[in-house]
Amino acid sequence: MIRKYVFGKPIETGAVAMKQTACDKTEIPHFSVKLQEDKTAVLRCQLGQSDMIYGLGENVRGINKRGWIYESNCSDDPNHTEEKRSLYGAHNFFILDGMRAGGSGKRFGVFVDAAQKVTFDCGYTDSEELAVTVAGGGFVLYLLENGSLRDIAKEFRKLIGPSYLPPKWAFGYGQSRWSYMTADEVREVVRRHRENGLPLDSVYLDIDYMERYKDFTVDEKRFPDFSEFVEEMKAEHIHLVPIIDAGVKIEKGYPVYEEGLKKGYFCKKEDGREFVGGVWPGRVHFPDVLNTEARKWFGNWYQVLLEQGIEGFWNDMNEPALFYEEEHLKEAQKKLCGADVDHMDIWGFFDFKGTALGIANRPEDYASIWHDMDGRKVCHEQVHNLYGYYMTKAAAEAFARLMPDKRILMFSRASCVGMHRYGGIWTGDNQSWWSHLLLNLQMLPGLNMCGFLFCGADLGGFGSDTSEDLLLRWLELGIFTPLMRNHSAMDTRQQEVYRFGRQEDFRNILNLRYAFLPYLYSEFMKASLNDDMLFQPLAFAYPEDDFAPRVEDQLMVGDSLMIAPVYRQNAAGRYVYLPEEMKLYRFRSPNSMDIEVLPAGHHYVDVALNEVLVFVRPDRLAPLSYGGEYVADVDSSRLLLLHFIKTKAVYKMYDDDGYTKDVNLERNITEISVDSSGKIAVKGAGKPECRLL
Ligand code: GLC
Repeated sequence: MIRKYVFGKPIETGAVAMKQTACDKTEIPHFSVKLQEDKTAVLRCQLGQSDMIYGLGENVRGINKRGWIYESNCSDDPNHTEEKRSLYGAHNFFILDGMRAGGSGKRFGVFVDAAQKVTFDCGYTDSEELAVTVAGGGFVLYLLENGSLRDIAKEFRKLIGPSYLPPKWAFGYGQSRWSYMTADEVREVVRRHRENGLPLDSVYLDIDYMERYKDFTVDEKRFPDFSEFVEEMKAEHIHLVPIIDAGVKIEKGYPVYEEGLKKGYFCKKEDGREFVGGVWPGRVHFPDVLNTEARKWFGNWYQVLLEQGIEGFWNDMNEPALFYEEEHLKEAQKKLCGADVDHMDIWGFFDFKGTALGIANRPEDYASIWHDMDGRKVCHEQVHNLYGYYMTKAAAEAFARLMPDKRILMFSRASCVGMHRYGGIWTGDNQSWWSHLLLNLQMLPGLNMCGFLFCGADLGGFGSDTSEDLLLRWLELGIFTPLMRNHSAMDTRQQEVYRFGRQEDFRNILNLRYAFLPYLYSEFMKASLNDDMLFQPLAFAYPEDDFAPRVEDQLMVGDSLMIAPVYRQNAAGRYVYLPEEMKLYRFRSPNSMDIEVLPAGHHYVDVALNEVLVFVRPDRLAPLSYGGEYVADVDSSRLLLLHFIKTKAVYKMYDDDGYTKDVNLERNITEISVDSSGKIAVKGAGKPECRLL
């Protein structure tokens, strides 16, 4: 059952796809509600000692969010350290589970549908209290109370509508770097992958493909004859994926700028002048994507690149990131230039330093941006968390208009619940730290709960220098994330896998991704079409198991498998908890593995640097391919079955053409069953030749 409560006059976010009738009362079970004078609402709920809090999507810390305070306030912050409260997304859904021994006896999900800042104090200020604070301006709260953790997550997903579906090639391995400066550099990346037998499906173009960082332009000198280059890459089975930034460069003669200005489609200041911010292109205006006409106009610009053969994009800097606001920059300059450094005491010095360091992403500057929401003038503060979402919606709506039958790859940095229908996300500027490998794993279930299924982190780490072992271990997790992209920042160690010594290990790891493709794609599509999760914490899959909720470093991947990646340097193994007897496949490559059955309980398992542990649940199957150099090269008519048969296992394998929107769950299913004697039977859409592994 879903209950809806409306407070004040909320701005319609479009997050919810299934309309609900609001309750008359504003008394919410489990919560006390206090409306403060400044219209801020505070909702409090008592926590039992063992209560756990799941969800909140893209955030720091563990799977259980208890003990910290999180803020939904999309932020461009590349330092994802533990003390941070907010990253790039605003994912306001959580489930409180107090049904275990020592718990409060409550279990429910809460979604705060709001476009402004929301704070989730999960027992940080008072360890026995959960406090949700919603900044003034009105909001809608949904309370979901039926069934298991997984049921509640599914019910929420139904409420917010189906998750975005990418094309199948987007499940291939992608190589990225800020930036490949020329077409020849890209050719070199592709050549070295192909020469070394390293599978690859996409190369990402960061901001330097553009002319002076202007959206929807291509630098003709460094990337001449772009559409021919796109075709040349396609002939090599490589998709080029260009970045699009939120800020539009202010430059005379640049059509996006000129046209946007003429039509009044950019965000304004309160006095009606265009807001001027500073990002990569220098001085920019931000398209007012919250305005229907402006959104349509901005979306149409993607056509410039679609027409040149591009089939995928990543939307960036759309919190929107603000390196500076023009007027404040001038004030800061005056202050710094006027500072009397000869007579400055230490507090004066800190003020001086703070003035320089505090120029970016200032709340006051965000508050000076105004939107025209179809006739209604709205301060950005009220809708901050919608910007990245609506920029992505602009693109997705344009794709639907321009290429109605085709799936286009789209993922974004900033996001909010609702955007999950229009694109995936990557988790922004992480670092080449071992802790960020674990963070990548721990974020996945929360992202799935909020509808973000197509997601992934910068594998190997974006900032700082990676190490060979970190990259290997990270790719060993990345094999299972729908977006599998290696991306790194300029001035960091070059991170393409062919730059390292253990070529055979890298080749095997990437090959494993292509081997797992039939299972991964099938589980992804089923999860998406059934409003389910691809990555579940163990507590979701084993509701009766008392130890499962404590496991913070293993995940269920789809219905058949569990993974337990290594995330510590120099670790030659790790502890693994098995809630039930499972079969362990210890892969070194798709053709080389050890297999053993392990009883339920705690194990210390050796894991060499080139090994991937995959655990199969009893009476479950997972179809694997024989690998491929790129997604289209993977032959799904010949399958190898991971299996752990006690009595009988049946696997419903989903597959489709990977490009069109013909994603029928019934028509596209092949049913593969294996009985205890090892006999395989296949019926349904395809007739793959199957062999037990
Ligand atoms: C931002 C993005 C990063 C990109 C860089 C340059 O930091 O998060 O992925 O490489 O901008 O465009």
